[in-house]
Amino acid sequence: MIRKTFPAGAMIFFEGQPADCAYIVERGQVEICATRDQTHITLAKLGRGEIFGEMAVIDNSARSAAARAVEETEVLIIRQDQLKRRIEDAEPMVGQLLGSLITRFRQAQNGLLNDLPGRLRGGGHLVVAEPTGGSVRGESALEWISREYDLERGLAAGEFEPFFQPIVTVERGELAGFEALARWRHPERGLVAPCEFIDLGEKCGLIRQIDLKIMAEACALLRKAAGDGPMPFLSVNLSSQHFTDLDVVTGLAERLRATGFPADHLKVELTETALVQDPVTAYDVLCRIKDLGVKLALDDFGTGYSSLSYLHRFPFDVLKIDQSFVRELGNPGRTHHIVESIITLAGRMGMEVVAEGVETEDLIPPLRDLGCTFGQGYHYSRPVAADRMAEMLDR
Ligand code: CMP
Ligand code: MG
Repeated sequence: MIRKTFPAGAMIFFEGQPADCAYIVERGQVEICATRDQTHITLAKLGRGEIFGEMAVIDNSARSAAARAVEETEVLIIRQDQLKRRIEDAEPMVGQLLGSLITRFRQAQNGLLNDLPGRLRGGGHLVVAEPTGGSVRGESALEWISREYDLERGLAAGEFEPFFQPIVTVERGELAGFEALARWRHPERGLVAPCEFIDLGEKCGLIRQIDLKIMAEACALLRKAAGDGPMPFLSVNLSSQHFTDLDVVTGLAERLRATGFPADHLKVELTETALVQDPVTAYDVLCRIKDLGVKLALDDFGTGYSSLSYLHRFPFDVLKIDQSFVRELGNPGRTHHIVESIITLAGRMGMEVVAEGVETEDLIPPLRDLGCTFGQGYHYSRPVAADRMAEMLDR
């Protein structure tokens, strides 16, 4: 369940209850309240975009107050795993800070609540804070959680599919392989490009499933399209998140087996970011991927760290030179020398080189002169859907 509607006056939860989720107000108004000595105490009134019920989830404790719908109210549910992942992904100190703030807040508020009715000798109704009493209101949490649910839904509904961009030999312009690129066929937004969902997918951890799904489908589609003819290679992208444990190795092996795709025709593309956080584990993962017979490509080389030590320490078979370098190749100057050095270096180390972003014909002679093996870019073809990929193989 993603959202819930409460009629006016309905209790959302009670003080002291255990908790399994937090909420964001999407519409309506929520009163945070407590009762002491027959006195009803209003602690806060929350409106659209405000979060409540987060404390007990964060510190695994009981609800510090009750929550009630003032008018008909719609809330979006933030599951425990969604909330905790965000805290765990932050610096460890953020989690610690939140924990201690909540403990101190609970103590202070308990003191206040137990003290108030007696001091006012009232009974009846006490209001501690008027609406907009200090919680942070905004669209951003609401938007992130809605988009996250949409991504989960899209994945379950099979809306992700691979597009295929040809990778061509520079020398003779022959089709050698394809890079599989993820597309989200969204029922309302149309065809969504990766730049619009990768970041979100990494934040909520779904990127691993998306990557493997694209890989499996691309393998199946390419194998079918190739039929008995020559089999082009397939390059797939894996997010940095795969390189923190060995799960991806099993994941790839299973899908290779299920699709019957030849492992030695598969290349896994990753960027240097994947190697930075935990190089020891990443190294282990890369070696095991190679044990499957799959090749490794270092993607977007030239943008990130461009570290020679990564080239040297990790067992890459292919180097993909980022388009920002390739585009400059026509112009005389320093970039030309950089690309030349990269290609020479890669060649000496026994790696193949793919030039990304080959958008115009005039880039081909310099690439050829530099001995670059493969090119990829709009000059050859944009990424195309599976049926167009099959047509390209027929020709
Ligand atoms: P939790 O303790 O899980 O359940 C009750 C929720 O009410 C709590 O999380 C906060 O989200 C919210 N809450 C408690 N006290 C206040 C307050 N003084 N002002 C605003 N919100 C509060
Ligand atoms: Mg890539």
